[in-house]
Amino acid sequence: MQDDAPLGRLEDLPADYVQAMRARNLVPLWPSLRAVLPPKVPTRPTQAVHWAYGDIRPLLMRAGDLTPIEKAERRVLVLANPGHTLEKMQASSAIYLGMQLLLPGEWAPSHRHTPNAVRMVVEGEGAWTTVDGEKCPMSRGDLILTPTGLWHEHGHDGDAPVVWLDVLDLPLVHYLEASYHLNGERQKQRPGRGDRAHTRAGLVPTPVFGGDGPGRRRYPVLRYPWVEARAALQALAEDRPEQEAVQLTYVNPETGEDAENILGFHALMLRPGQTLRLPPRSPASVFHLIEGAVEAGIDAPQPRRFALAEADTCVAPGFSAVTLRNARPDAPAFVFIADESPLHRKLGLLEQRD
Ligand SMILES: [Fe+2]
Repeated sequence: MQDDAPLGRLEDLPADYVQAMRARNLVPLWPSLRAVLPPKVPTRPTQAVHWAYGDIRPLLMRAGDLTPIEKAERRVLVLANPGHTLEKMQASSAIYLGMQLLLPGEWAPSHRHTPNAVRMVVEGEGAWTTVDGEKCPMSRGDLILTPTGLWHEHGHDGDAPVVWLDVLDLPLVHYLEASYHLNGERQKQRPGRGDRAHTRAGLVPTPVFGGDGPGRRRYPVLRYPWVEARAALQALAEDRPEQEAVQLTYVNPETGEDAENILGFHALMLRPGQTLRLPPRSPASVFHLIEGAVEAGIDAPQPRRFALAEADTCVAPGFSAVTLRNARPDAPAFVFIADESPLHRKLGLLEQRD
């Protein structure tokens, strides 16, 4: 039997039969079978979408005038994928993206929640996020984790607006009926920073004479400074001139696990003039341009081509091939990638096609 042979429709059934089923909370599978189990390629409401920072920024700054932080708690414009409807506030099936504004002197109060979040700092200096008592300074390109269940709050001691990109697994956790938050007191900041304690690759802090060996904390690093990630990418590019891709993944340095449980985070460098072809994979991916100029080609569901300027963001649905071209022949480009790969790997769904 052909796998795309047409199946019986709801309209083919007698009305009294359909009514009798519905009255008993029963539904026939065959009219909907192809929709939930389509042949070869999944149905993906996620569309390829580009959000230009040049479009977002004036509207976000206006939100700063229109809505005081006390009335917003988090002053965010959500990057919503129309394929899921704007009301659902999701970029893909598992990824939420929001551009958040904090003005000088503002404070976004302490809370914690079940969804995992990260912040990718987009512009401004002087803001900080306190996570689990650790004060994390925020500069352009820094990645700051606020994993599930950890208290976090934001403050701003600088003199110009600060903007960052929030990336959360909120749509998935909400779908699982597991999403909630708790408000807390202002956190007491403890001394020390996880990123300083883990600055040198391969060296992790241990107690004297080690006990059971290196620590195995789940979140030993909460801030990944961009200056370190950028330098590591450049060193990798120099060390492996013959290798096409230059990518780093944000991990827990004590265990090697992905930095968070559900979404994966990566930093990619495109050499001057380089074009990188990424094969179709099951997870959706978000590309945020930290530095340079990149043309992104996404081949499915409909072919789309986006010219990414600095601080622009786009999303590619799963099972679509992506081409990233560094539009500058004389300078590297740096891209932050968020994807659903840890989730797909844990569920045994991770797939790549050539
Ligand atoms: Fe939060």
